[in-house]
Amino acid sequence: MSLPEPLQRRDTVFDPWIDTYAERTHGLTVSAVRALFSVANRPEVVSLAGGMPNIADLPRAAIGEAIAGLIRDHGAQAMQYGSGQGEPFMREHIAEVMADEAIAAHPDDVVVTCGSQQALDLVTRTFCDPGDVILAEAPSYVGAIGTFRAYQVQIVHVAMDEFGIVPQALREALATCRAAGRRVKFLYTIPNFQNPTGVTQTLQRRRELIAIAHETDLLIVEDNPYGLLTIEGEPLPALRSMDDERVIYLGSFSKTFAPGFRVGWSLAPHAVREKLTLAQESATLAPPVFSQFAIATYLQKFDWRAQIVAYRDMYRGRRDAMLRGLVDNMPAGCTWTRPTGGFFVWLTMPDGLDSQAMLPRAVSARVAYVPGTAFYADGLGSRNLRLSYCFPSEDRILEGTRRLGEVLHDELDMLHTFGIGPGTAEHLYRDITAGPAPDIT
Ligand SMILES: Cc1ncc(COP(=O)(O)O)c(C=O)c1O
Repeated sequence: MSLPEPLQRRDTVFDPWIDTYAERTHGLTVSAVRALFSVANRPEVVSLAGGMPNIADLPRAAIGEAIAGLIRDHGAQAMQYGSGQGEPFMREHIAEVMADEAIAAHPDDVVVTCGSQQALDLVTRTFCDPGDVILAEAPSYVGAIGTFRAYQVQIVHVAMDEFGIVPQALREALATCRAAGRRVKFLYTIPNFQNPTGVTQTLQRRRELIAIAHETDLLIVEDNPYGLLTIEGEPLPALRSMDDERVIYLGSFSKTFAPGFRVGWSLAPHAVREKLTLAQESATLAPPVFSQFAIATYLQKFDWRAQIVAYRDMYRGRRDAMLRGLVDNMPAGCTWTRPTGGFFVWLTMPDGLDSQAMLPRAVSARVAYVPGTAFYADGLGSRNLRLSYCFPSEDRILEGTRRLGEVLHDELDMLHTFGIGPGTAEHLYRDITAGPAPDIT
């Protein structure tokens, strides 16, 4: 295993501030695929790219009335500054929500954040200096890769299979980094319905991860925004429920209620919680107070558990449509994961095809996806596509897979005719990992 090179500067010489920017911005650029995604968001394109939850069926009128009542009755507090750690009532609600995943949490150990994305940011800024290493599944969440890069951290990927992180690969990665004198700050993992693969870590693997963490003195950051969105089988215990000293847990209301409120949280060992609160105060003074009141109002006045059941049913239908569409339309040689919850399927194409180079042709054929390279810090993933079934309707998903199947058949025809994949000639969109647009997270 080789360690990644330091980030290369990628600014443009036409920018007059080029010599003024902080070093930490050097690895960040606007992704060329953003332009493509603006086309992909047009109604005639079926986008299997976006990771946006489908919130169309929320009872919006009733929620609107409840929020009007909130402003009328509690507006003076709800529109005021609040606590850097998050409002006490919100932290109590969060502890109740986590109890549904068998996590015993004290509200004092919760820090409310602006989505779990900000929790990732606070954890990284609290633990990482430039050049430190974070271990992360291969592939991993594009938004986390972006955050780690922004702090000039080196991401070392650890192999995963259909059961989650491969324990031996984790041991080896850790040993290699440490032998090279590198400081490994934590393992970042998404055990449930992983973004981007849809894979869920088995109970056995979870136990092994915790055992390795103990043995090797490793901190784990467990990112779990999809855990309650099980669409098949029983939920598995969170890593945090197996260990409250070595695991920092990140949660979110974005997928179980709505992302626009931007409320997430971290649950951390006591001393870490203190540091995260200080980091939160320096970042925002306090997480959005109004959003916390709005979420608490929703949790008190609405049957949020029933809403989660409704979400599960809706996503199950869409997952089934996606799997059916793939069976019916994908050429031989393609394989894909079979998620039991969450939003994503991970497709692997036959050797010789390149998902980044293929994307413009797919968008011309009116279907979009996210190329696999977005989810690796090291340029791998060109044979992979992330397909999301969360946002389009079942009919649109079926149509999207039909169009994607045609594109793949054409690509394979070219490959067989000319002996070279149309995409293998050049990587036109190599910089996708640099700046994920919000709609591909
Ligand atoms: C794995 C993972 N972590 C974190 C986030 C960020 O979610 P939010 O900031 O909306 O809570 C996402 C969003 O897609 C995600 O997929």
